[in-house]
Amino acid sequence: MNTKESKYELLYKQIVSLLEGETDAVATMSNAAAMIHDAFHFWWTGFYRVSGPELLLGPFQGPVACMHIPFGRGVCGTAWKEHRTLVVPDVEQFPGHIACSSESRSEIVVPVVQKGRVVAVLDIDSRNLATFDDVDARWLQKIVALLPPIKSDERDLYLAAGCFWGAEKYLKLIHGVTFTEVGFANGNTTNPTYQEVYTDQTGFAETVHLRYIPAVASLRFLLHMYFKAIDPTSLNKQGEDQGTRYRTGIYYTDPADRAIIDEVVADEAKKYGLPLQVEVEPLRNFYPAEEYHQDYLDKNPSGYCHLPVALFELAKKAKDTK
Ligand code: SME
Repeated sequence: MNTKESKYELLYKQIVSLLEGETDAVATMSNAAAMIHDAFHFWWTGFYRVSGPELLLGPFQGPVACMHIPFGRGVCGTAWKEHRTLVVPDVEQFPGHIACSSESRSEIVVPVVQKGRVVAVLDIDSRNLATFDDVDARWLQKIVALLPPIKSDERDLYLAAGCFWGAEKYLKLIHGVTFTEVGFANGNTTNPTYQEVYTDQTGFAETVHLRYIPAVASLRFLLHMYFKAIDPTSLNKQGEDQGTRYRTGIYYTDPADRAIIDEVVADEAKKYGLPLQVEVEPLRNFYPAEEYHQDYLDKNPSGYCHLPVALFELAKKAKDTK
């Protein structure tokens, strides 16, 4: 066993026993940061907590650091946006790296993911190049999983927009959307397969489940973006795809969203001289589709999609200006 592995093993046990039964986020993050810092004598070890559209500093060990990091910026904001651990062997080589200290040469950022949401990130900096690797990533992920529940502002929305391959790609590109998955919503069976839904007998709609940060992309803004990607006057048909599984629909999980959805739908209806066919309902059920459907167009760039490429460009540039 190498030294790093055995150090982490011991550290993990110590953190487990120290944090056991503690429910306060700041108290547990403080001691976790202190113990990691002490065990390895890193240059900087600490947390940034998700707060509205940005990451907010603390608790941490080490020199003074930047207090605010916007979503998607720097190593920390990118780890948040992409929901993944980033190991950066040379910070100079990371586009958009935020240099809180010129001493820092390499860095690892581990998102704290709870119930599918990033609630904080653990950031560690070293004064040496290439300090971190998969061993750090694996153990630090185990350590942050010990933290108690931390409040999250992220919200969920379920949008049916015809073939879910293109809809997912489009919605995922919007700044403020942190997570997407495709699946089947508001149908009449349990655990449907794609083939079953394809028969059009199950009542399910191909749907994108998205999670978003309301302070970055509001519900109103996301709904207007959704309308740009559908023909809301077309019943059970988008592009070449026809059937109830390709219907358009907005499915919400928080009844408080209903008033905003109704407002946006009414607003959009004014643009068309025809009645809108977009279904608005509470989400009754949702089953993720098989893995090969997830991020389908990223895996199969030449796959069929009824959405024009220009829409993806639009999604990349779109910003909620409030
Ligand atoms: N370098 C980080 C900023 C935080 S400091 O390293 C403490 C980043 O690029 O996000």
